Order: sequence, then C-alpha cells, then structure tokens
Amino acid sequence: MKSCRLILIMAALCLALSGCGGGSDTPAQALEDLTVVGFSQVGAESDWRNGNTRSMQEAFSAGNGYRLIIDDAQQKQERQITAIRNFINQGVDYIVLAPTTERGWDTVLAEARAAGIPVIIVDRMIEVDDPDLFTCWVGSDFRREGETAVRWMEEHLGDGPLRIVHLQGNIGSSAQIGRTEGLDAGLAAHEDWELVFRESGDFTQAKGQELTEAILGQGLRFNVIYSENDNMVYGAIDALRAAGLVPGRDVTLISFDAGSKALRLILTGDISLDVECNPLHGPRVRAIIEQLRKGVTPQKLTYVDETYFDAGNLTEEIIAGRGY
Ligand code: AHR
Repeated sequence: MKSCRLILIMAALCLALSGCGGGSDTPAQALEDLTVVGFSQVGAESDWRNGNTRSMQEAFSAGNGYRLIIDDAQQKQERQITAIRNFINQGVDYIVLAPTTERGWDTVLAEARAAGIPVIIVDRMIEVDDPDLFTCWVGSDFRREGETAVRWMEEHLGDGPLRIVHLQGNIGSSAQIGRTEGLDAGLAAHEDWELVFRESGDFTQAKGQELTEAILGQGLRFNVIYSENDNMVYGAIDALRAAGLVPGRDVTLISFDAGSKALRLILTGDISLDVECNPLHGPRVRAIIEQLRKGVTPQKLTYVDETYFDAGNLTEEIIAGRGY
C-alpha cells in the first residue's frame, strides 16, 4: 500500500514539474539555456595541463549553468586555429584560449571579434597587434618564475661553478620564453655559471628522459638541471637514476609547476627547488565570464600569485592542500 501511494505521489510530482506533460521544460530546452563556452586547450602534455583541464571542467559544469566544449590541440597551433573557427561556426557564447605559442593569433581572433564572440586568454600570453582582439587574460608571470629560480640558485648554490643543463618547454610559448629569459639573465650575471646544454623537451616526461639520456651518453659533465616543468624533470630523474647518479646529491634539480608529485620529490631530496605555476584557472575564468554576462568590463590582465617550494618551506599540509 505504502509503495503504491509513493508511486502516485512521484507521478504527480513529475507531471507538475513537466508542466502537466505539455513539455515546456524538456531536457533539450534546458540544454539550450546553458551558456556555451568553447575551450581550446593546448594539449595533455603534462600533469599541470591535466589539472588545468579538470579545473575548467569543474568550473564550467552543467550544474553551474554551462556547456563546455573542449578541444585538445595536441600542442599544435594550427589545431587551435581550426578549433576557434569551429567554435565561431557553432556560435558559442564565449571562447577561452590557452595558447600554445605567443604569436600568430591576429587573423583568427579578428574572425572571432567579427562574429561578436568574446575571447578570454588563459595561462600563457599572446602577442597581437591590436590588444582589443581579446577581452582579457589571466595567467602566470613566467619571467618572474624564472627570476625566482635564479635568485634561489644564487642563494643556495653560490659556492662552486655551475654547469647547467637547460630543458626548455615548447619554443615560443610564454612559459618557455619567460623561464628562459630568467635563466639567461642569471647566466649573464655570473661568470662561473656555464650553460652546457639547452634543448626543448616539449614539456613532456618522455622528452625530458630522452634528452637527459642523450647528454649522459655523450659524457657531458653537469651539476644542475634547470627543467622548465615537472614532467621533464621526472624524465630526467629516471635517466639519472638509470645511470647510477643520485638526483639531489650528484645533480641539483630545479623545476617549475610544483604539482603534488614533484613536491613529494622535494621531501625525498630528489628535487631541490620547484617554482609554482598555478593551473587552477577554472574559477577565475568563470568569474570573468560572469562579469561579462552582467555587463561589467573585467580587468584586462590578471597575474596569479605564485610562490616557490624547497626543503626549507615545504610541509605535508601544503602537499595535502594541493589541487593538482
Ligand atoms: O603554460 C604552463 C606550462 O605548460 C606548464 O609549466 C607546463 O607543465 C605546461 O605544459
């Protein structure tokens, strides 16, 4: 009896919610009510990038009133340009672009502007002739990250000549440009700092390992690896260990991103310094879009606050609280 009454109540509720079966609030219409955001993502090259994608997915959920269309460009700018054109054709409400490289966006962003679609740039920066081609940007100060690393090297590796291996990120990306500029300034300021190797490892673990194996195979002598992200340093650690070297003792490892796995490697002494690069941009971009929807003009450029971690300041609590 009880279950029969429950079924009747549920049926009445369903009818009431669906406007007496008239279909005024069908699932299809509910979907139409969502704000559509096209997100052109760089790729899935690193843990940082995956954390960034997750952050965007969480912020732009259907529960929050959004439909997020993500395009993974596999680190290729041509794919991002195609994705933006597809978003324009689909008539999305907003475009979010995490750019692979800084240059080469003028034409496609002019097309988005002609279609009346606001474009928000996230993470890395772009260089365009007309700054009105994008609505605003939120991301990291990569040059400052590089300078933070150099200052740490000056303070902690002062006693002894440095022979530095430099694993770069994607050439032409702000993350690579800023972190490389920081190191170059350090090299210019210190006669006893020598750059013994520099090549792009594309921000991937496989490439970081491959390059480190190659330089070890050549018998190159070095005592510092300056790796422009965590994944490349993981590859370097594997290569060093396979060659019988002890990371942190035989070679000082400097990295960027400060993901939780890398922070654990600071506690074990493998990595000496990790400069933070925060990927949790989802809520920041959503706040910008909510401003735009209310007719408020967002701040043009927003730099995220970032710090660094080494054995002197890192705690288990910091690692536990890490969102990536
Ligand atoms: O642009 C941010 C950089 O891109 C991160 O340092 C790196 O891990 C990522 O792939």
